Amino acid sequence: MLSKIDVQKFNTLIEINSLINAPNQDVHALLTRILDSATRLCGGEASNLLLVDRGAQELYFEAALGSRDREVKQFTIKLGEGVAGWVAEHNKPIIVNDVINDKQRPRNSSKKNDIPSKTMMAAPLRIQGECIGVIELLNKKGEKKFVREDLEWLEIFANQAALAIKNTQSIERARTEIRQLQDQLKTGEDFHTLVAKSPAILEKLEIIDRVAKTDSSVLILGESGVGKELFAEQIHLRSPRRRAPFVRVNCAALPEGLLESELFGHVKGAFTSALNNRRGRFELADGGTIFLDEIGDLPLPLQAKLLRVIQERTFEKVGSNVPVTVNVRILAATNKDIEALVDRGEFRGDLYYRLNVLPLHIPPLRQRPEDIPELAAFFLEKFRRGAKKQIEGFSDEAMEAMLSYSWPGNIRELENCVERACVIGKNKWIRREDLFLNTGAAAPEQEGDRSLKTAINTFKAYFIKKVLEENNWNQTEAARSLNIQRTYLSRLIREFNMNNPKE
Ligand SMILES: Nc1ncnc2c1ncn2[C@@H]1O[C@H](COP(=O)(O)OP(=O)(O)OP(=O)(O)O)[C@@H](O)[C@H]1O
Ligand SMILES: [Mg+2]
Repeated sequence: MLSKIDVQKFNTLIEINSLINAPNQDVHALLTRILDSATRLCGGEASNLLLVDRGAQELYFEAALGSRDREVKQFTIKLGEGVAGWVAEHNKPIIVNDVINDKQRPRNSSKKNDIPSKTMMAAPLRIQGECIGVIELLNKKGEKKFVREDLEWLEIFANQAALAIKNTQSIERARTEIRQLQDQLKTGEDFHTLVAKSPAILEKLEIIDRVAKTDSSVLILGESGVGKELFAEQIHLRSPRRRAPFVRVNCAALPEGLLESELFGHVKGAFTSALNNRRGRFELADGGTIFLDEIGDLPLPLQAKLLRVIQERTFEKVGSNVPVTVNVRILAATNKDIEALVDRGEFRGDLYYRLNVLPLHIPPLRQRPEDIPELAAFFLEKFRRGAKKQIEGFSDEAMEAMLSYSWPGNIRELENCVERACVIGKNKWIRREDLFLNTGAAAPEQEGDRSLKTAINTFKAYFIKKVLEENNWNQTEAARSLNIQRTYLSRLIREFNMNNPKE
């Protein structure tokens, strides 16, 4: 029969498990919760959860519960030192029931984390067998001793804590990989070619030439897909900073906490996945230019921090109060009506005026039709090689259709449209039909439905069809290339209503 306390323990474990698996966990809160449950259910008076810093060969306090939790958090413990240090070094759990007199056992060196402890038990947090931290309980309540069963439970809680950390680390690693991929795609040498023919754009480029020589902030405005990022690149490339880094940050891509550390860096221990000091994008851009894309999405607290960087060129890393000074030119872009955001109190007026010293408005494609043939030819060149087809160019009616179309998605839409035509087109000359302009089914982005789901499904269908065509509609080959099961592929083919045109 399970005792009442056992039932409580099991229920707590189930609850913690579901929290660990929930998306967007705040790990620090979760670890504190695990520590709290372990302390309550195993009957300790106080407890600590420490994490190993392998570089410094020490443990630091991630969470501490009990009378001196605040003080304790400032200390670190050397590996091998005290009970927690012993557990971390030996990667084994331990019970020490006579802390004062047990000479055989490790003891907590006094002064530091000392809540006077008489009895203790501690267990390692392990990820793939390696000890990454320690959870320790101090003083069994009621003047009792910790017993084997308590330790077994503590080990279960330690496993949960390790799992919670592993989850965040995997997420953090995935984020870093994505960032590195993005960086590889957009490193210094990898600037885009800016195609320009229309007087409207040539005039903007002249302005950019003059603006580039200064250090003033520039706010680049314009509809989505007009090429704001390319103009930011041009400002950097035409400036005296051209040989220094050009660092891009998408302010809409990360939640506030992560964005702050992305921009300004953090110090070790600032939050749970901060296992090391990290330089932020502002530091990486020192001497060069930082491009803050989607600035309209910058959360208000970070707007205040950015304002200070503009005014004083200094900021503090997350978790530190030491000011860092940088020499960075700031470029920002948004497709939002930023003045409306200011009116609604969602964007700081003072920051807006600071950024808007030199506003640069990029006109939509429909106001510069002279660029359409140039851009279309540029994208055709880019995609025809990939499509491995002999495509000569656009038919007259295809070109007319492109010239009279309004391009609500601007150049990005034109680029996608030419790519699609290269994949779908079967003739030497791209025909009007291959462009799918104004036809709802093939170009849903022009319709009202802008949901992510629809966009993903459209892309899925388009991509699957492309791979099927490349494999002559051989489903086994296509499934292999897509790295999915053949049965799943045939289900998708049915779901998207696709037909082999040759059948
Ligand atoms: N003048 C141009 N010449 C060549 N390619 C261009 C030009 N303008 C834009 N592009 C291409 O169009 C696409 C969209 O450009 P970009 O990402 O700069 O748009 P944006 O204005 O930042 O849009 P959003 O507001 O949606 O972020 C990119 O693939 C870019 O390479
Ligand atoms: Mg952009």
